[in-house]
Amino acid sequence: MAGRLGQFETPFYFYDIALLRQTLEAAVSVAEKYGYVIHYAIKANYDPHILAVIKEYGLGVDCASGNEVNCAIKAGFDPSGIVYAGVGKRDKEIRYAIEQGIFAINVESLQELQVIDSIAASQGKVQNIGLRVNPDIDPKTNKCIDTGQADSKFGISYEELIDNLDNIKALKNIHVAGIHLHIGSQIRELHVFEYLCAKVNAIVEHLGNLGLEFGFVDVGGGLGINYDFPENEPVPNFASVFSIINSHLKVGGRPVHFEFGRALVAQCGELITRVLFNKTTASGRKLVIVDASMTELIRPALYGAYHNIENITSVSEEKQRYTIVGTACESTDVFDEGLTLPKTERGDLLTIKSAGAYGMSMASRYNLHDLPAAVYSDEL
Ligand SMILES: Cc1ncc(COP(=O)(O)O)c(C=O)c1O
Repeated sequence: MAGRLGQFETPFYFYDIALLRQTLEAAVSVAEKYGYVIHYAIKANYDPHILAVIKEYGLGVDCASGNEVNCAIKAGFDPSGIVYAGVGKRDKEIRYAIEQGIFAINVESLQELQVIDSIAASQGKVQNIGLRVNPDIDPKTNKCIDTGQADSKFGISYEELIDNLDNIKALKNIHVAGIHLHIGSQIRELHVFEYLCAKVNAIVEHLGNLGLEFGFVDVGGGLGINYDFPENEPVPNFASVFSIINSHLKVGGRPVHFEFGRALVAQCGELITRVLFNKTTASGRKLVIVDASMTELIRPALYGAYHNIENITSVSEEKQRYTIVGTACESTDVFDEGLTLPKTERGDLLTIKSAGAYGMSMASRYNLHDLPAAVYSDEL
């Protein structure tokens, strides 16, 4: 494979489409068993080829902006399978989502509810919404991607929701179609999903007792992947998470929705980059300077995220410890420190693995870098 990849200008994303299909198959087959609905969190990767494959598996889409809703619709997804969350939706984004007839707008503040109500009224419509409740759960993940603790900017505080239930019921142009929660990303301690179920059960029962009738329960995404040893777990453990939800969630036959991003697309993507230079710092640190940077993959610089990196062309028996740095003018533009690799030299190709989620979708043109290209296994 390294030989074939060597013909393309670096850096670029390489997508293993067979692995993507295997992952989707795993997710969809278990979800079907329980009657669960999966939305793909499109923010993880907007690549048109990836979207076309995902669409084949009948998933809905979870969006975080009007442009994401537009991207999903342009890619051929049915608006009736689209949910749209986000703490700060502009009026024009809300207007667009209502016009398109999406499945639900997941609402993150009481003020937003009122704005949706008045925009829907101006279109003569009643908009389905999901109330995004902040459940105050620690998802035991990197604090940069934790969204469900009490003081987080995401979701409506449950107390505030209860205090305003009568006002919500009085809004004529919204219909509370469901409740929504998303507690964070890269969740590897699966018992966290048990806590989530316990919270959801209590919320569903309480809201029912208070006379709020609603349908779906959307428990968000967050299932983590194995960044340390991707080869050991190329397909995330959907069966375990669905089985936990099935055993612990008691929502009286309501439809249960999920919004997976990372778990569906992270492992099928790698960032392929070429070594430009080697140098040694005054303190003796051996740097490998590659032609990718935080502009192609920002996760290490942004969150201190770890990606497994390999040299795919060196045949040297000699091992060295390296710090792998990118080309951007930022000191945090470091992919890994103290990484042992075979002797790595100018021209070698490195792969930065598990980069299919929040890689290309977060790419920027800082330093006026070109955006990276994509190469797909089924087109080689
Ligand atoms: C509301 C919502 N749903 C789903 C996701 C997808 O999360 P993940 O990629 O961890 O599955 C996110 C990620 O930010 C989100 O904000």
